Amino acid sequence: MKLTVFRHEREAAAVLADRIAAEVAANPALVLGLATGRTPVPLYQRLVDLYRRRGIDFSRVTTFNLDEFWGLGPDHPGSYRAYMQRHLFAHVNIDPARVHFLNGLAPDAERECARYERAIAEAGGIDLQVLGIGGNGHIGFNEPAGALNARTHLAVLKPQTRRANASFFGNDASRVPADALSMGMATILQSRTVVLVAMGRGKRRAVERMVHGPLTTRVPASFLQLHPQVEVLLDEAAAESVTLSALSVTAANP
Ligand code: F6R
Repeated sequence: MKLTVFRHEREAAAVLADRIAAEVAANPALVLGLATGRTPVPLYQRLVDLYRRRGIDFSRVTTFNLDEFWGLGPDHPGSYRAYMQRHLFAHVNIDPARVHFLNGLAPDAERECARYERAIAEAGGIDLQVLGIGGNGHIGFNEPAGALNARTHLAVLKPQTRRANASFFGNDASRVPADALSMGMATILQSRTVVLVAMGRGKRRAVERMVHGPLTTRVPASFLQLHPQVEVLLDEAAAESVTLSALSVTAANP
């Protein structure tokens, strides 16, 4: 894993947005895997800003979001589909036909997950997957457990994860859906490059276990140690328990 520490989340967002812009310029048909939650908000702001200032052309880019709440349709403001629309898709020239989501209202979860796996394969796989990390070490909605699902599946959310998502549901964790559809660990690990962003003290322990810990289903992010191209963007608080030898680059304030 290549770890980089930034003074402020804005700097990490700027570096990652520039990187995505460069990759889109080099390969206009790039396939991006996207995350939601609080962490990527500055990244999406920056991408919108770059689109307006430099006109990055998203028209041939394909996207696959990691996960979606089970039981929520795209029009529900708490859905991840609505989140992506608000933060990115409504503001750039992405082709709606190239935007892919798991359907939280699908009649059959298993068939919906199989459809998503096929769609990713038909797109040629994910070139660059953006990830956040839960304070408990989850990625996507692959929660700590005795066993993990390799492929896209219906996941039961931990109470901690529902609490962390409460801000999208009037700060009421009981209104956060109890289940979600999520890419599985193998789906994520098949992406060509993974960039994980973790900011703040609440991610410190999860980052430490992801980087230094044993591979364990109790810390799903630890499986990223198996991937040859993982980049981790941290702030100082999230990097606090990572030993210096693991840090290949330290970015100073530009
Ligand atoms: C969201 C997702 C989750 C989040 C994680 C961190 O699509 O897959 O794994 O990345 O829960 O969330 P934030 O960024 O809100 O701390």
